[in-house]
Amino acid sequence: MTNKNEPIEKKITSLMAKMTLEEKIGQLTQYGGGLDKNGEEDIRKGKVGSLLSLAGSGAQIRDRVNQLQHIAVEESRQHIPLIIGHDVIHGCRTTFPIPLGIAASFDPQCAESASRIAATEARASGIHWTFAPMIDIARDARWGRMAEGCGEDPYLNSVMGAAMVKGFQGKDLAGQDAVAACAKHFTAYGAAEAGRDYDTADISKSTLYNVYLYPYIAAVEAGMQTVMPSFNEIGGIPMSCHKELLTGWLKKKMGFDGYAVSDANAVYELVNHGVAATRSDAARLALSAGMDMDMGSNCFRDTLAELVKSGDIKMSQINEAVRRVLRVKFRLGLFDHPYTDPTLLAKVERTPQSIAEARRIAQKSLVLLKNQDGLLPLAKDTKFIAVIGDLAGDAGSMLGTWAALGRSSDAVSILDGVKKAVSVDTVVTYTQGCSLPGRYFDAPRNATADNTDGIAKAVEAAQKADVAIVVLGEHAGMNGEASSRSEIELPGLQQQLVEAVCAVGKPVVVVLVNGRALAIPWIAEHVPAVLDSWHAGDEAGSAVADVLFGDYNPAGRLPVTFPKSTGFCPMYYNRKNAGRPVGSHPVFSVGYMDTEYAPVYPYGYGLSYTSFEYGKLSVDPKTADLSADIHVAVDVKNTGSRAGEEVVQLYLQDVVSLPTRPVKELKRFERIMLQPGQTKRVKFTLSSRDIAYFDDYGDAVIQPGLFKVWVGGDSVSGLQGEFTLANGAGNAKTETEDGKHNTGYVGGVEK
Ligand code: NOJ
Repeated sequence: MTNKNEPIEKKITSLMAKMTLEEKIGQLTQYGGGLDKNGEEDIRKGKVGSLLSLAGSGAQIRDRVNQLQHIAVEESRQHIPLIIGHDVIHGCRTTFPIPLGIAASFDPQCAESASRIAATEARASGIHWTFAPMIDIARDARWGRMAEGCGEDPYLNSVMGAAMVKGFQGKDLAGQDAVAACAKHFTAYGAAEAGRDYDTADISKSTLYNVYLYPYIAAVEAGMQTVMPSFNEIGGIPMSCHKELLTGWLKKKMGFDGYAVSDANAVYELVNHGVAATRSDAARLALSAGMDMDMGSNCFRDTLAELVKSGDIKMSQINEAVRRVLRVKFRLGLFDHPYTDPTLLAKVERTPQSIAEARRIAQKSLVLLKNQDGLLPLAKDTKFIAVIGDLAGDAGSMLGTWAALGRSSDAVSILDGVKKAVSVDTVVTYTQGCSLPGRYFDAPRNATADNTDGIAKAVEAAQKADVAIVVLGEHAGMNGEASSRSEIELPGLQQQLVEAVCAVGKPVVVVLVNGRALAIPWIAEHVPAVLDSWHAGDEAGSAVADVLFGDYNPAGRLPVTFPKSTGFCPMYYNRKNAGRPVGSHPVFSVGYMDTEYAPVYPYGYGLSYTSFEYGKLSVDPKTADLSADIHVAVDVKNTGSRAGEEVVQLYLQDVVSLPTRPVKELKRFERIMLQPGQTKRVKFTLSSRDIAYFDDYGDAVIQPGLFKVWVGGDSVSGLQGEFTLANGAGNAKTETEDGKHNTGYVGGVEK
């Protein structure tokens, strides 16, 4: 047993001194949670350090973990506790909106709070470690995993990702309400060609450092304990063996001292990538690159001992990986408290407070995209309401792509939310309209004769109603891993459905349920009111009804650009200008010949039931040294008649730079509440760290010259100001000025 008062590194050293090579390799091995007797025997022999995804309810998982932990702690030679991982992504038992929805709140407090509750429920269920946050930048809406991250912007991903790390890990990682976080998928997973999950990413170093790696800096600073390299390759090097990024950048340069776990079976998949000829080769490449734990492929378990004997792997490499794994186990307090208190779960699981918080966060995530002539909010005493659409009654889909221990029976469907919100005299009818497709190789869920019939029934329902609420989009299975879509238009016959319902001539409200940006140009043009609800978790239906009937004034903003059609993908606001910028010439400029190149809804966009006015933008100082802080302030006034929140966004452009910089980049935001007529002065400070970009060595650089700032309610509007930075004594030289690589420190980015 280890001495409680010894510092962790010393404890690890003395423990490792007693461990055999086999026991060390055991710490680097993770098994699936469905263990048989042989698996239990492996734990007893010290051949397994971790388990993932045990099945069952929280109580069942907890009891099984306590049983297996007993084998590890009491019956194995070294008494090293297991670390139990689970995908607790946006809730454990209480389900919150998908991360893309949480991102739409533009409120890091929501991200932290949802993760805190999830951690509390998870730890009481015997789970010590979550595979979240996902901070993959998603610029291509075809990619199914857009749902699991915070959208297309690196800054929003870093702010939200850091908040999630803090929420999961709590104030004290060893507390009985904390789990270790795992930032994933490291990296450029979302840059897969044409949005096909797992596929190749081939991106420049500039894009790598400034876009895809950017959020990891914040995650490391927030104290993330583990990282999961991604399935993809970048420019020929699979991430499961990317030494330069994993060991060079993350561990050495960023100072990450936790451990890296492979994605499922990904060590073995180095053979499929074609970089390893055998399982042993795969293990050698992965471990040498800095992969510390093998999730499920057993390549480490089966081949590392031989590799050490042959000298292909040094004992020091094994020791380094083991030390990292043990460090996290110690920090989690697993050596002192290996078991989960069985009385805890009943106290913390799905409490009234967590349900209320799920509703509050769901409300915050909703984005009002259109509200022509103030159709919304609807009167609660509207006589006849027709609710239409498969998704309206689909409570299970509200849970989104990762439900962890969530249950559809806990979720409020949009139909039920509407029914509960309206007056006793209101008649609410429900028609499915059409069903939604599943996977192309499944038995078809759609396109049957029933659907035409279903659309006719929906038309009939709309004819009898005063207003139709049409719920459209994607069921939960259309997002997440291996759920890329070749089209981002509405699946199945939903487009025909909404057109047929609109043709009736009654007021129509569309509620979108989705895990990606959808191409909805027709809806944006023809439907008077559109609310985006994502997959909003257990309380989806209640939160949607709160907005539809005016109990809550929406203020969510789009964390992804909504393109006009699939052909626009990838589409994102922080693009480069090119030599012939969009709109600079009627013919010879960036875009398409068959349609205007503009989004249907831009990044950061969202409406409110009130209105806001921006004024008195100040930028101070106007001219400054490269290392100066720039203070930007603006007056925001609620010019409408009800209280509401506004997401004030600051975008920056480095106007002249070599290499080129994006046309705009989000650098700050704040969600503020204003009473009718109230004005607030919102102040932001940009440090040199915010103004800098990364060169091709991953070092921060600022070039002197003109910078523009915009402050407004989305990425395409706002008041514009500017400032100029000039070279002064002590400033970092730039690559372009002296022709050399800049190793200078700028603004605290480097550790
Ligand atoms: C594969 C997914 O890519 C990853 O996100 C997840 O954490 C693991 N499986 C474990 O379930």
